[in-house]
Amino acid sequence: MLFCKAAAGLLALATSASALQALPIPQAQLKRQTQLQRQSRLTAAATYQEYNLTVPIDHFHNDTKYEPHSNGTFNLRYWFDAQFYKPGGPVFVLSAGETNGENRFPFMEKGIIYEIAKATGGIGVILEHRYYGTSIPVPSFSTENLRFLTTEQALEDTAYFAKNVVFEGFEDVDWSPDVTPWIVYGGSYAGAFVAFLRVVYPDIFFAAISSSGVPQAIWDYWEYFDGARLFGPEVCSETTGKLTHIVDTILLNETLSEYVGPLKDVYGLGYVSSDTDFAAALRGGIYDLQSYNWDPEISGDSFFEYCDLVSNNTNQFPELEEKRSAVEELITVAGYGDEVDPLADRMLNYIGSLGYALRRCGGTADECFGFGDREFYAQDDTSETWRLWPYQVCTEWGYLQTGSGAPDDVLPMISRLVDLEYSSQICRETFGMTGVANVSNINKYGGFDIAYDRLMFLDGEWDPWRAAGVQAVTQEPRESTPRQPVVLIDDAVHHWDENGVFPNETRPGIPPQAVVDAKAAIEEFVLEMLKEWEPARK
Ligand SMILES: *[C@@H]1O[C@H](CO)[C@@H](O)[C@H](O)[C@H]1NC(C)=O
Ligand SMILES: *[C@@H]1O[C@H](CO)[C@@H](O)[C@H](O)[C@H]1NC(C)=O
Ligand SMILES: *[C@@H]1O[C@H](CO)[C@@H](O)[C@H](O)[C@H]1NC(C)=O
Ligand SMILES: *[C@@H]1O[C@H](CO)[C@@H](O)[C@H](O)[C@H]1NC(C)=O
Ligand SMILES: *[C@@H]1O[C@H](CO)[C@@H](O)[C@H](O)[C@H]1NC(C)=O
Ligand SMILES: *[C@@H]1O[C@H](CO)[C@@H](O)[C@H](O)[C@H]1NC(C)=O
Ligand SMILES: *[C@@H]1O[C@H](CO)[C@@H](O)[C@H](O)[C@H]1NC(C)=O
Repeated sequence: MLFCKAAAGLLALATSASALQALPIPQAQLKRQTQLQRQSRLTAAATYQEYNLTVPIDHFHNDTKYEPHSNGTFNLRYWFDAQFYKPGGPVFVLSAGETNGENRFPFMEKGIIYEIAKATGGIGVILEHRYYGTSIPVPSFSTENLRFLTTEQALEDTAYFAKNVVFEGFEDVDWSPDVTPWIVYGGSYAGAFVAFLRVVYPDIFFAAISSSGVPQAIWDYWEYFDGARLFGPEVCSETTGKLTHIVDTILLNETLSEYVGPLKDVYGLGYVSSDTDFAAALRGGIYDLQSYNWDPEISGDSFFEYCDLVSNNTNQFPELEEKRSAVEELITVAGYGDEVDPLADRMLNYIGSLGYALRRCGGTADECFGFGDREFYAQDDTSETWRLWPYQVCTEWGYLQTGSGAPDDVLPMISRLVDLEYSSQICRETFGMTGVANVSNINKYGGFDIAYDRLMFLDGEWDPWRAAGVQAVTQEPRESTPRQPVVLIDDAVHHWDENGVFPNETRPGIPPQAVVDAKAAIEEFVLEMLKEWEPARK
């Protein structure tokens, strides 16, 4: 059993490398991500010829926040696939978002780009986001050099691209958005991004599809764990909540201070002196829901493996049996005496799964989950790609994962000691930023209320990111209309309509019916909207 979990754990890491991240991210994980980005070509069988368009570094000479301004240009990278292109067909652009654009090749080989280009006779394009991959406008990632890494500059890049690109081999085609319809698609951050494109440049981007988009920037994103809390297996979320509560009760209640040492000891973390570091190191598999996908080739299943373990009423780790009496005492002093059975077994299983995570990482809790190495944060050459998304988080987007943000009547899935101060450590240490991100830079586009004609939204029912999108459980359900469709994909997680399998490789349940239906809805939307296209409108 353990061996299988190891393989799944590695997969989870591989997929999370290209998925939207919330802070805090332990340094070890940042390092690993950086390595995975360098190996990104491994993620697709196909390769595509790369092209660059020369683009201004600074589109906003009128805004002092970009001072000192730049008159320079940089190479914005893109790839295209014209195998289905027929004269008059649309340009279908996938915004690559916060990663090396090569990570998106599978979507052109067999996912959403392939499907929509085929259905429309369009040309499929992947457009890299500035600062990611090789689309780097600056000589280093120093904080000053990162000032051009804003969403509005990247949106403007995309508009500039639409107005200026000429695809090689198709020099006789007029690709300008007045003559050729441009349709944009993105998932996650890029899902919000393409929704903004439609709103800000309605005359350039004829239609947009936002998959698991996160248009609402949120500084304290404690709701990240609501995907697991509300939609995960019930015993799993309930148990995670109680075990976390036991930890918090002992750490936060001074009358229980004599139990803090024994608590750390049963978790095998007696050597971690800071209570918050200890609480933050208890990173159960609850974080891994986001990596779950319907395609077993790319799915990380560690969320469900964790849930199975922590829901099991029999200790699965014989070597932990000697801790049983200590565990029972801790449960009792924290107020769960009535539930010692089955909580003691479940807590032993939780401890076992955590030890497992540490072995997988191959270090101590400090090495695997620590935040303390200042020299690490000081590295800023352009290979330190881990700096990029955290910069966007610290300046504009937020999404700090906390336990402290949960309302009093909610048992959070992670410790309440993990608060804003703790989660924003990387902002202070890396960028010297002590304030709150200016989420107005993002939410000015509409946030939860963003809507526009020919703008479609799809979200996953269980997605940890749903809480930052237009179909958050806190929002009024939207009515879906042909020109403003909204689709909630049942039993789905993060942008499940984006990836695909070759037509000859579908089989029962792959993709699941809900995903088949979502893809069909996208295709119908695009084909219907294209009927409205009139060249050189305006
Ligand atoms: C595109 O630009 C990048 C960065 O300047 C460069 O490394 C790469 O060789 C260019 N690719 C092509 C095809 O010109
Ligand atoms: C700069 O110009 C853009 C485009 O014209 C405009 O949307 C924006 O509001 C201006 N910004 C400032 C700070 O004046
Ligand atoms: C950019 O070009 C403008 C107009 O040519 C010039 O006034 C300005 O000094 C230049 N700025 C920089 C940073 O080179
Ligand atoms: C702290 O623990 C004591 C002893 O278990 C309990 O009586 C008290 O209510 C607790 N205080 C808080 C704030 O939970
Ligand atoms: C607990 O784990 C054992 C061994 O893997 C398994 O046989 C049993 O079905 C599990 N129990 C539950 C309730 O999942
Ligand atoms: C935050 O962003 C908004 C919208 O872009 C802007 O008007 C405001 O000046 C910014 N606030 C600060 C403190 O920079
Ligand atoms: C399905 O088609 C793809 C692309 O043509 C090919 O690479 C793949 O090997 C095929 N798969 C099977 C199982 O035949």
